[in-house]
Amino acid sequence: MIDYSQTIPNNVDLGNDKTLQRALERWQPEFLQWWGDTGPQDTAALQVYLRTAISVEKDGWANFGYVRMPDYRWGIFLAPRDEDRAVSFGDHKGEPTWQEVPGEYRSTLRRIIVTQGDTEPASVEQQRLLSATAPSLYDMRNLFQVNVEEGRHLWAMVYLLHRYFGRDGREEAEALLARRSGDPNNPRILTAFNEQTRHWLAFFMFAFFTDRDGKFQLASLAESAFDPLSRTCRFMLTEEAHHMFVGESGVARTIQRTCEVMREHGISDPAQVRAHGVIDLETIQKFVNFHYSVTLDLYGSEVSSNAANYYTTGLKGRFEETKRTDDHKLISDAYPVHEVQGTQIVEKSVPALTALNARLRDDYIVEVQAGLDRWNRIPAKLELPFRLTLPHAGFNRRIGSFAGRHVSPSGGVMSESEWIRRKAEWLPSDADHAFIESLMGRVIAPGQFANWIAPPVRGINNQPIEFEYVRFD
Ligand SMILES: [Fe+2]
Ligand SMILES: [Fe+2]
Repeated sequence: MIDYSQTIPNNVDLGNDKTLQRALERWQPEFLQWWGDTGPQDTAALQVYLRTAISVEKDGWANFGYVRMPDYRWGIFLAPRDEDRAVSFGDHKGEPTWQEVPGEYRSTLRRIIVTQGDTEPASVEQQRLLSATAPSLYDMRNLFQVNVEEGRHLWAMVYLLHRYFGRDGREEAEALLARRSGDPNNPRILTAFNEQTRHWLAFFMFAFFTDRDGKFQLASLAESAFDPLSRTCRFMLTEEAHHMFVGESGVARTIQRTCEVMREHGISDPAQVRAHGVIDLETIQKFVNFHYSVTLDLYGSEVSSNAANYYTTGLKGRFEETKRTDDHKLISDAYPVHEVQGTQIVEKSVPALTALNARLRDDYIVEVQAGLDRWNRIPAKLELPFRLTLPHAGFNRRIGSFAGRHVSPSGGVMSESEWIRRKAEWLPSDADHAFIESLMGRVIAPGQFANWIAPPVRGINNQPIEFEYVRFD
């Protein structure tokens, strides 16, 4: 007899659900195999100071202790059910939320869940090699925390597939373990999740920009009329906040260290800055440009009839849907989107229902800009003139109305030849990656940090910065 509350902490009554037990008993060994094959490399023996969710109560979701990662207890948690929750938007507005999947929305909902679920293992695969070059034990621990929680997010989506979608759900759950990030024959579903994460700057940028897309997608699915999906996403969002913290503070500490060196030596020339073994701000800007533009593509086409359908049928709401004060149907509303006409970018008004991807992306941009403003306080405080900026939303896009167009960071429309000639000014080149990789080297003495990054302001869970966050014995 397996004690499910121990091996798979959960609040879905797994102990009494025989069908779900059978499905998970098959899937769990495959998951562990996948973790061993594609999760953090050479880490099975490490003891890592991790938080494990064992319940959704305040004191239950942040339990800290040393864990060997293959023994991490990946649990299944849904935010508590609100019996009074009604559908808050679309054609079904005001009706009770659904506790089972309505037949007519079955395949669409399954597709939404699979697409979200696929991003979770993908990012673990992308980050597989990073612990070999961790700039400190603190950072290594944070990487592993993100990795195990992305693993748990996969469990969350697989729970929905197993519990609510029968045999097709089980097949999809297996396929989630079969695809591989960057594999040309069986890639992950979304492009940004097939990019390599070559070094820690890319990891921090990914956690800031791309995990935040995750937040916005989860937040709009948390509005769903399908209540189990809503409740699952609500709990995932509590974990996602830490991932974005890892990203934002990682980039901030990189900027901090660079600015300190610039200040100390009175230098600003990128080559001189690099000579001191830190990452020049111009290169950091290029990474902002890259990760931001690649992440904007995850929102899909600005104008989309699928997005309109998801909304009218109640499957996916807007960011903070219930806090908005309009009619939550949007039938006669309009929303501005942008596109290239000739050599100009023009604004046009489209039906709001079709522009929900653009709207979600715009909400995301507001939050990203606030993060950049926080980063910019670092050079400001050290009286350095450099400021990071977000490129135009049309810059370097492959999906949506700017796909196939060439737009500079400042929003100028350019020819393809000009783009090819100038793009290395704006996007990281192989040489930039190689320079950053040359700085990467593992630092494992407690309290020590690689030269290119400043220590954090405080440790994890009130532990000191010099705490032994990872043990190697
Ligand atoms: Fe996630
Ligand atoms: Fe995440």
